Amino acid sequence: MDDHSGADFSVKPTLVGEKVILRPFLLDEDAETIRTFLRDPEVGRLTGSDSGPSDPEPWDDKAEQSMRGWYGTRNEQPDRLDLAVVDRATGACVGEAVLNRWNSANRNCNFRILLAPSGQNRGLGTEALRLIVGYGFEQLGLHRISLGVFAFNPRARRSYEKAGFVAEGVLRDSLSYGGEWVDEVVMSILASEWQRHRGHPELI
Ligand SMILES: CC(C)(COP(=O)(O)OP(=O)(O)OC[C@H]1O[C@@H](n2cnc3c(N)ncnc32)[C@H](O)[C@@H]1OP(=O)(O)O)[C@@H](O)C(=O)NCCC(=O)NCCS
Repeated sequence: MDDHSGADFSVKPTLVGEKVILRPFLLDEDAETIRTFLRDPEVGRLTGSDSGPSDPEPWDDKAEQSMRGWYGTRNEQPDRLDLAVVDRATGACVGEAVLNRWNSANRNCNFRILLAPSGQNRGLGTEALRLIVGYGFEQLGLHRISLGVFAFNPRARRSYEKAGFVAEGVLRDSLSYGGEWVDEVVMSILASEWQRHRGHPELI
């Protein structure tokens, strides 16, 4: 897609927070965590990657090659930003934060995040999303960042709300999980909102 916005997604920054650092993937260093979150059934459920509970597939050569093919090429992508989330307490990668589906004409993007269980529930996710969303508005010049969160994931929704995302609609029965239909809530944040609160809507 032609870039009319001046945004340069081929730059892969390192973003430093109090609890986390977001940095480009280092495949050999991060592979163990990546395997962990790709195989975690609860992460698969919450991100909509799995269609129902099932026994984890054995991690075979094909899975390893596919993981290496994907995570080994994230730093070369000119139209999306995939960053590893590193827990500053241990120095280890605990997940990923991603701006994807960039539309340069409308200066918008989708956002997604996932943390392995070892990184969850300690405020790392909320801080990571503030860092990458701030980068999206302040350095990439985005106008709007949106995301989808399934109705069975109130923790993620809370984390998004804490950083200033606003629910704007419901995609009814968007996911089939274990034979049940699940709604997906669409949330977004605009550059003008970010400018006002910089990820802390409680302050305004
Ligand atoms: C979603 C995710 C990124 C959030 O990051 P996190 O570091 O675990 O979350 P935080 O600790 O920053 O914040 C979670 C907030 O939700 C709250 N929370 C936790 N469980 C909750 C629940 N069942 N209902 C409502 N709120 C809940 C926490 O209390 C906290 O809010 P508080 O700070 O006001 O107390 C992370 O848990 C994750 O990656 N989970 C697995 C994959 C996933 O769900 N990805 C998102 C798909 S849309």
